Amino acid sequence: MDTTAEPEAGGEPGTGGEPGTGGEPEAFIALDGVEKVFDVRRRKGLLRRERHQVRAVDSLSFTVARGEMVGYIGPNGAGKSTTIKMLTGILTPSGGRLRVAGIDPSRERTRLAHRIGVVFGQRTTLWWDLPLIDSYKLMHRMYRIPDGRYRENLGRLVELLDLGDMLEVPVRQLSLGQRMRGDIAAALLHDPEVLYLDEPTIGLDVVSKTRVREFLRQVNTERSTTVLLTTHDLQDIEQVCSRVMVIDHGRLVYDGGLAGLHEVGESERTLVVDLERECPPVEVPAPARVVRVDGPRQWVAFPASESAAGLVARIAERYPLVDLSVREPDIEAVIAKMYAERAGRTPTQSS
Ligand SMILES: Nc1ncnc2c1ncn2[C@@H]1O[C@H](COP(=O)(O)OP(=O)(O)OP(=O)(O)O)[C@@H](O)[C@H]1O
Ligand SMILES: [Mg+2]
Repeated sequence: MDTTAEPEAGGEPGTGGEPGTGGEPEAFIALDGVEKVFDVRRRKGLLRRERHQVRAVDSLSFTVARGEMVGYIGPNGAGKSTTIKMLTGILTPSGGRLRVAGIDPSRERTRLAHRIGVVFGQRTTLWWDLPLIDSYKLMHRMYRIPDGRYRENLGRLVELLDLGDMLEVPVRQLSLGQRMRGDIAAALLHDPEVLYLDEPTIGLDVVSKTRVREFLRQVNTERSTTVLLTTHDLQDIEQVCSRVMVIDHGRLVYDGGLAGLHEVGESERTLVVDLERECPPVEVPAPARVVRVDGPRQWVAFPASESAAGLVARIAERYPLVDLSVREPDIEAVIAKMYAERAGRTPTQSS
């Protein structure tokens, strides 16, 4: 084995030096008119099969700079996972141009693998029957991680993700949340410059979600790791990402800050108030309004772009307020509203 065949001769990851070749510095992740069309066969009747095409990604263009943390959201079937698979080289685009760290992923998948980390929440990259630590040992060799770096990274990840008690446990015996933490560590053992996460918090309890989010922020701060995060949980985006991209039918329909998304979607948050006793619906200034009353508990919807503070003060002043909480808008609701608006403007394409 030629152990000198390290992925990149110049520039250790994370040192800030662009591996540029002297030309114009290209964004770390760059997509230009990327398309992915799947040929699928559908059964029609007993013997006939009909071929048709699914355009999963449609003239998609965006760039992500080194060190950015970007949320990538959209409804089921929008093309998010397909995009991530193209970014890792698992799938080859049907058209357009795609580069990650200057590399064409589908052409140089192995070379790129040394520089990226991937977590698919829906399935594991770990060896199912082996103790967790054995997967890491295998990755140590697969990625040819120098011994010192491996030990250092493993130690750090075990501590940050609290994996100590899990290392000797076969992966199949781990709970979903434990397994996910194990998967995230696996994706980071080789110090990737970019981390793709496809629904990393799916099915996790609140504590585990919080822990994963904190961890991602920390990795980004310490190592300037670029993060592309796909999720259906708006709080993942709120707590981790400064930028969000929304895709629908394979097309980018929004790219900007989260606050802007709320405005575009005209979404609402809900203030849940617990009063000392059952009361008639509380009086609040429009557009806020009571949407539900259940005994002493009332639900007040208000625009997501507004602060809850004024509303809380007003209710506390006039009613016997015992407790309160604010519920964030459901991401699907934000998206649904956004699309309802869009549908009126742009012609929908049929496949
Ligand atoms: N291997 C495949 N063969 C055929 N069609 C596919 C394939 N993979 C994905 N598709 C189709 O491409 C479209 C986009 O799928 P994709 O998995 O990228 O969506 P997604 O945004 O990740 O959705 P979700 O939120 O449900 O995970 C869907 O219509 C899907 O059926
Ligand atoms: Mg998906």
